[in-house]
Order: sequence, then structure tokens, then C-alpha cells
Amino acid sequence: MSLNTTTRSGNEHVITTKTSQEMYERACRSLATGVSTGFRRRVTPVPMYFVRGDGPYYYDVDGQEFLDYGLSFGPLIVGNNHPTLTEAVNRQMKLAYTFGAQHQGEIDLAELMVKVLPGVERVIFANTGSEAVQSALRLARARTGRDMVVKFEGHYHGWHNNMLVSNHPTTEQLGRASPSCGGQPPEEYALTIALPWNDLSAVRRAFEEHPDRIAAIITEPILVNGGSCMPVDGYLKGLIDLCAEHGAVSIFDEVITGFRVALGGAREMFGLEPDLSTYAKAMAGGFSMAAVAGRGEMFDVLEDGRTGHFGTYNGNPISVAAAIATIKILSEPGTFKRMNAHGDAIRRRIEQAASECGQTLVTTGTGTAFTVHFGLTEAPRAWTDVMKTDEQAYDRFRAALLQRKIYLLPDGRWYLGATHTDRELEKVFPAIDQSMKDLA
Ligand SMILES: Cc1ncc(COP(=O)(O)O)c(C=O)c1O
Repeated sequence: MSLNTTTRSGNEHVITTKTSQEMYERACRSLATGVSTGFRRRVTPVPMYFVRGDGPYYYDVDGQEFLDYGLSFGPLIVGNNHPTLTEAVNRQMKLAYTFGAQHQGEIDLAELMVKVLPGVERVIFANTGSEAVQSALRLARARTGRDMVVKFEGHYHGWHNNMLVSNHPTTEQLGRASPSCGGQPPEEYALTIALPWNDLSAVRRAFEEHPDRIAAIITEPILVNGGSCMPVDGYLKGLIDLCAEHGAVSIFDEVITGFRVALGGAREMFGLEPDLSTYAKAMAGGFSMAAVAGRGEMFDVLEDGRTGHFGTYNGNPISVAAAIATIKILSEPGTFKRMNAHGDAIRRRIEQAASECGQTLVTTGTGTAFTVHFGLTEAPRAWTDVMKTDEQAYDRFRAALLQRKIYLLPDGRWYLGATHTDRELEKVFPAIDQSMKDLA
């Protein structure tokens, strides 16, 4: 594949991706696909190579500085090279990498989570969001003795075969559980029901059609992976209530929203307490760490041996030290207020710039994680609305911003962190204005 290595927008803004292009071509010869996770292949004009990160800035192999609003797909909520986080990890590195045995940090982190997450009485640790989701589903199945699980169209709960269904379904794939890639035998997602989101009647029907079969309902409380759609009033509570009524376990997948939309995540933001929640990403500020948390009795099936939970690296001291440090940094008064104000200011600026340039768009989500939708006049409520966005217009907008050294994720999503300050607003505002003009 041949790609332009130098891209232009006006005369004064030119970035080069020459070295990234060369490295990508070299990588493709030994590293299958050239990248380490499928999502990174979508980055245009070429998957970029970086050498260093500092606060909200990335430094690439061509010596350029980029202001980052992608935050490594979410984890970098306190930026790179945060002194407190780095110090905590370094301190732990000198003590031990890992034990495969118990240590004080596990207790400290579990107690901290119980303290800051509303309704959480007990936790277990894992390494990635995908693993945490699988563990939560296993707990639910062991507890209920049932086999089926409900997920929703447009939601992403990791890459395992039972959950990588109807992630971003095409029109033909709507209305049934559809695999997202090859190598997914139907038997492995036959117990997964995929429903439209923000529609309680669909959930009621599923409970009627499958009496005593549904072990759990899993939902992103804010549909960040499918256009940052917000739940309509009463929807999330309705899900929790329907689960309680039908003896199923309610699960919020807070891998993105946890420690991001508030210190207590969506539980705090919406004042709701599902049976279980899953956490990863922002929880440990860039280190591989995940957890399942919830009401104490949800974990009885582990305590009494009805099921098990495993993992060589679970609760490893380095990731645990990173999580404790990250949560403590985020606990500093005013942090979420500042992050939300920063994100809201960017959203307003994008909307204003669009209106001045005659572009139709809406933004959806929260201050710390939001999505820009070109071509829509109303906030999308579910994946079927998000499907109508003008992706090409966003791609052009993102490319224009990249010219101005603003680094974004490929799907319209922006992530904000604690190291984005007014200084960064001064950089991003004119870049937004100019990039919107470029679209004309
Ligand atoms: C909501 C949600 N759940 C689960 C996952 C899977 O997490 P991981 O990539 O750490 O396995 C993701 C990843 O993006 C996610 O956004």
C-alpha cells in the first residue's frame, strides 16, 4: 500500500509521516498487519510511530510534537510521565515485579475501590477489559445457573467470541447476534442475544421469549464505543429493575466510563448501583489492569467454589501500584470539574465552528469522552442513528487537525484527561476553527 507521507492543509501546516511510513512497511514484514490491535490499522494516513509521551503530548519518530486527545483509547487519563504515577511504579519496580502471591497493594486497591465506587462491596482483579467482562459473565452464570446473556447493538465488550457480536452491525446484520470478524463459530455466540439499545420494550420481550434463561444483561452505561450515545431518562434504571424482576444479573461495562465520567464512574454519574461493573483503561492510567466490582453477594459463587477466577498476572504489584496512584491523582478536588469543563469547551467550539462554516454536526457524550457526528442534526440515541453519520467528513476534519498537530482517534471520539489545561485549549481552538474551514 502506498500512502502520502507528507500531507498539506494550506501552506503553513505540514506534517511528515515519512519515518512512520518506513517503519510501518518494515513492521509489516514481520509483525502481521504491522500493528498490535486491529483498531490501530484504521489510523490514517499511516499508523504512526511514537517515541515519547509527556502529559497530553506525544512525540513521533519524525521529531514532531502532537497534542493528544485520544489518550491511547482511554487509559491515559493522567497523561504520560505523570510524576506521582511514575514514582509509584518506580518504587514498586525496586521492590518486586511480581510474586504470583499476595501483597499489601491488593488490599489497599480493593479497599480504595470499595470506598470510591458507589454500591461496591467487593472486587476481583484481571488484566484487560475483555477478561473482566468474561469474569463478570461467568459470575452471573454461576450465580443464576442460566446460560444466555443480553448485549446491545453498537456496544463493545472485548474481543472474545461470545461478546464480539453486533459491535458495529451493518443494516443486514441488525436484529440478531452477528459476528464482527471471521473465526467466530456460531456455537460460540449462540447464547448471546443482541438487542437495540435505549429500548426497554426489547429487553422485556427477550425476558418473555427466554424465561429463566437469561443470566445477565451487559451494557456500556454510555455508549462510547457506538458514538457516545447517552442513555435516555430511566433506561439504565429500567435495565437494573428488569434484571432484578427476572432474576438476572445487571452488569455495567465501565471499562471506558469507570474513573472517567466521575471518580465513581457511571454509578456515581447516574446514581445507580447495578449488581456488577467492569473496569480497566483509566483505572490504572496506562498500565494493564482490570477489575470486576459489585455487591458482595455476587462473589459468593467464588467464595463457595461454585466457580473460579484465574490469571497469572491478576493483581500484579506494578499494575496495582499504578491503579492506586491513578485513583489518588483523580481524587484530588476539582479534577473532574476541570476535565469536564475542558471537554465541554471543546465541544462548544466544534459546534460553533461547524455552524459558522455551514457544516451540520452534533456532539454527544460527556466532557471527558465525546464523539463528533457530522451529518446529524439530533443527538443519536442508538447504533442505528450513529450509522447515518458522515464518516468521510469526520475523516477529513481529523486529517486537517492532524496537520495542526492534534492527534485523534479515527472514529470521531475524543478523550480528555487531567493534564489538558487552558494552554491546550489555546492550541486546539484555532486548530478546530481552521480545520473546519478546510472542509469547505
Ligand atoms: C466498554 C469496553 N469493554 C471492554 C473492552 C475491552 O477492553 P480491553 O481492550 O482492555 O480488553 C473495551 C475496550 O475498548 C471497552 O471499551
